[in-house]
Amino acid sequence: MSTNSTTAQSGSAKKSATATRKKAREEGKSTTKATGAARTKRSQAVAKRAASRRSPKEQKSLSDLLEHALKDIYYAEKKIYRALPKMIRKADHPDLKEALQHHREETAGQIDTLESVFEVMGKRARGEKCEAIDGILEEGESLLEDFGDSVAADAAIIFSCQAVEHYEITRYGSIRAFADALGLDEVRDHIDSILEQEKAADQKLNDLAESSVNDAAAEYDDEDDSAAA
Ligand SMILES: [Fe+2]
Ligand SMILES: [Fe+2]
Repeated sequence: MSTNSTTAQSGSAKKSATATRKKAREEGKSTTKATGAARTKRSQAVAKRAASRRSPKEQKSLSDLLEHALKDIYYAEKKIYRALPKMIRKADHPDLKEALQHHREETAGQIDTLESVFEVMGKRARGEKCEAIDGILEEGESLLEDFGDSVAADAAIIFSCQAVEHYEITRYGSIRAFADALGLDEVRDHIDSILEQEKAADQKLNDLAESSVNDAAAEYDDEDDSAAA
């Protein structure tokens, strides 16, 4: 009985202190600030309440995101590996054929490297459907249908492949940064080696487009113009 009455008294004292501070604020008077210890206690309580309200979805961590990104890119690399032969067959310029063939071999190595990464992390190598790469590859397919037998075939192939390379560069760049932040140095170094290959592949495609492929295709447009004139 006495405990209940003490609790009730301390509760009403707390309420009246809060009401006094509220009234003082409304009247523009300065109020006494909470002490450092009280502020720390308050922020801890807020954090505890916020954590208890979080759903399991919100409790995902950076290492979960890293694992998700690795599954995405593992799925992507396997799809890219399967998509490249069609591009290679349709490519006309020998240097482009050679560059794509070389990058397909690198892609096989990248798949092996990703499997090592999963192993280092103590996870099973498993892909997860990535709609971003599916969309890029589907577009590549329809571009091949539209332009594969035209004079702009090589330019269209480079156009598609560079979209793939840029997708890979952003993904590997993020994965590398996640691994670095989590102190997973071995994972970061593996990813770094793949990232360098992707950047080099993109650069090679860029050089080919700008040094010969685009100009060679543009010549046909010039011929069309002069024939029409
Ligand atoms: Fe790749
Ligand atoms: Fe690539």
